[in-house]
Amino acid sequence: MNTKIKNILKKKNKSKILCLTAYSKNFAELIDKYVDITLIGDSLGSVLYNYDTTKKVTLTNMIDHSKSVRLGVKKSLMVVDMPFNTYRSNLSAYKNAKRVIKETKCDAVKLEGGKKIITQIKFLIKKKIPVMGHLGLLPQSAKRFKSKGKSTRETKQLIKDALMLQSSGVFAIVIECVKATTAKKITQSLKIPTIGIGSSVHCDGQVLVTDDLIGLNSTKIRFVKKFINIKKYINIALKKFSKDVKLKKYPTKKHSY
Ligand code: KIV
Repeated sequence: MNTKIKNILKKKNKSKILCLTAYSKNFAELIDKYVDITLIGDSLGSVLYNYDTTKKVTLTNMIDHSKSVRLGVKKSLMVVDMPFNTYRSNLSAYKNAKRVIKETKCDAVKLEGGKKIITQIKFLIKKKIPVMGHLGLLPQSAKRFKSKGKSTRETKQLIKDALMLQSSGVFAIVIECVKATTAKKITQSLKIPTIGIGSSVHCDGQVLVTDDLIGLNSTKIRFVKKFINIKKYINIALKKFSKDVKLKKYPTKKHSY
């Protein structure tokens, strides 16, 4: 097993697992030293391309951005989301995941879903492709934004799916928008770590979209905390640049040949 994955597994019940998204080299370089997992999420569809759904994200989109991220990731585990429609059968899942790993040199792939895609997940793992699971709100198939795990039926199904993913061999599961008490139950039922997003403090780790946490992407989702308003600082720099160029204060002799 990949040593980075081994180290992530060891953190269960000991210390929090950190995961953030990156879509390019510069961001990857910045986050790499703080996180255990760098995720090239298909959230790049809405964050970078204004898509109303992640269904529009292509394998080429994911590969191109991941290649850039690879240049900035030195220590964390690099996980790439398999986009919508790329893992409908065992063979398509394998062909596409193999291509992602070959072209991006990532460590693992992430697939959304439980029972419905379990044969594909088992197939990938049998073929030695490390897989991260994703349960709860599944943006690739959800019709609308709605939290999960509120009813007893949904809670039971989520726990069942999580156990099924665990026995298929996934090394961790992202739990998205799941009620706190349900996220706690799932986390306690598993030997592998859960990485929460909008799923309370009870998960073993936390993932966020980096552009959201620094305020570069405007979102009103309840679970997002804006840790800084980076746009403010970018605006200051852009204003100074614009002023200096207009006043011929830049470029000076120092910046010329
Ligand atoms: O696409 C993504 O960025 C994700 C995370 C939000 C978990 O799947």
